[in-house]
Amino acid sequence: MKKLVTHSLIALTLPALIASGSQALAAEKSSAERAIEYRESIMNIFSWNLKAMGSVVKGESAYDQAAFAQHAADLAAAARLNLLAGFPEGSDEGETGAKAEVWMTPDDFKEKYQALQTKSEALVSAAASGNLDAIRPAFGDTANSCKECHKAYKE
Ligand code: HEC
Repeated sequence: MKKLVTHSLIALTLPALIASGSQALAAEKSSAERAIEYRESIMNIFSWNLKAMGSVVKGESAYDQAAFAQHAADLAAAARLNLLAGFPEGSDEGETGAKAEVWMTPDDFKEKYQALQTKSEALVSAAASGNLDAIRPAFGDTANSCKECHKAYKE
């Protein structure tokens, strides 16, 4: 249904956009909207992997060492992305859950991101050991670094 609506909107607006020449650019996303999408995409990669591991740690899913190690590796790899580039000035407005504090205390925001990088790397090492007793605290530290940042910077 959503697709249909979108299509008919395009059918309605496309001729008008073509007619108005350069105004066709107006249909593109703003750089702030693209930055918001970029950072939320990274967050969703974090969440996908963290949830899968959380379910194992809580005993809701069986522990499979290789699968768990893959989730840990993917989370750490995503945490190496330049997330901070997804928070440019001016992207505090619109469809975002980011608080204005991100831009008010950028050094602290960066430190909280670095904490996730460190903790997720430690989780990769723990996951390689295959020992759930080592994995649990390393998982807890990683999940905490998400929470610490969200508490301060996410609505
Ligand atoms: C350095 C700070 C920081 C860290 C660390 C962090 N987040 Fe976020 N997260 C945010 C901010 C800010 C937002 C709001 C972004 C927006 O909506 O523009 C957010 C949004 C999200 C969202 C919502 C995305 C959406 O589509 O609206 C999810 C899910 C999420 N984070 C998961 C995680 C998980 C899981 C971790 C840890 C593995 C994590 N985050 C670590 C700051 C952080």
